[in-house]
Amino acid sequence: MPVITNIEDLRVLAQRRVPRMFYDYADSGSWSEGTYRANEADFQTIKLRQRVAINMDNRSTASTLVGLPVAMPVALAPVGLTGMQHADGEILAARAAKKFGVPFTLSTMSICSIEDVAAGTDNHPFWFQVYVIRDRGFMARLIERARAAHCSALVLTLDLQIMGQRHKDLKNGLSAPPKLTLPNILNMMTKPRWAMGMLGTRRRGFGNVVGHVMGVDDMSSLTQWSAQQFDPTLNWNDVEWIKKLWGGKLILKGIQDPEDARLAVNAGADALIVSNHGGRQLDGAESSIRALPRVVAAVGKDIEVHMDGGVRSGQDVLKARALGARGVYIGRAYTYGLGALGEAGVTQALEIIHKELDLTMAFCGRTDINTVDSSMLLPGTYASN
Ligand code: GLV
Repeated sequence: MPVITNIEDLRVLAQRRVPRMFYDYADSGSWSEGTYRANEADFQTIKLRQRVAINMDNRSTASTLVGLPVAMPVALAPVGLTGMQHADGEILAARAAKKFGVPFTLSTMSICSIEDVAAGTDNHPFWFQVYVIRDRGFMARLIERARAAHCSALVLTLDLQIMGQRHKDLKNGLSAPPKLTLPNILNMMTKPRWAMGMLGTRRRGFGNVVGHVMGVDDMSSLTQWSAQQFDPTLNWNDVEWIKKLWGGKLILKGIQDPEDARLAVNAGADALIVSNHGGRQLDGAESSIRALPRVVAAVGKDIEVHMDGGVRSGQDVLKARALGARGVYIGRAYTYGLGALGEAGVTQALEIIHKELDLTMAFCGRTDINTVDSSMLLPGTYASN
């Protein structure tokens, strides 16, 4: 077993252990993957200010997100098909998040259902993500199910009315469960741990939707499903409808532009997430960390601004926080941990990021995450125009 010291180690192990179609699903962006790469790369151009001879004792990364206490300002992002990275993946990730003291966000396109995750975490509150779906009755039922499961925030995805093309998913014939074609069988035979886990669970399809929706030809295909069911007519009136229906904390995901950010404030959301969907939708969009300062400048006083995209380390979390993000979401970083080592891998991903965050904060001369601001960054290395 290799010694795991960073998220990249988890990624490498996940690539070995997870069938190709599911590893590729996570590790890909749309079209040229330019935005996907920029999300990660642009963090590297931002430089931290090293400070010395400042008392670094008694440090704290504890904070709040939409008013809820968190051990560090990091949430697990909604990730589709998490239960295909590892058997019962959503339950395992939610347990790891619960033990660590950070929110877990369940995707509508998860394998384990809302009810599975609630039962698997002893009804510990988690966050639930929804798309706007043509079948409004199904949406209303989903929201009711989230309420019944004590979900403490609803994350509404605004940037996936239509789905970006990810070449690898088409080439791999991505589906859940995977089709038993010869190439798939041969590939799965090289992943015995994964296969044993999958044989030991009954959760192998889209748990929130199979049996709950009408009018979809192939329930196992995310691409077909989204083409037939995601609503291309989504507009701000729908956001208002969902806000009323839910009545609880609402987080709007997929805002990159200050004008949209203003509309998110007007919609009365509790937070917005600066996000380009991990570079999986509009290829050619700006990286999230570059878009963040402009959104914060436009609406930071009126709404909690969160961000996701490219976060692979505690340094990244700190830089995002310094640029005004109250909270940061990790998607691939924990997904790799899950694919590599199950629940222990998610815990390890969280521990790695926490340790990096804590030490980096200290090197920059701060002991409390809540005092972190742009004065920790080297001027000229981050855009704020
Ligand atoms: C779903 O939201 C995806 O990006 O695959």
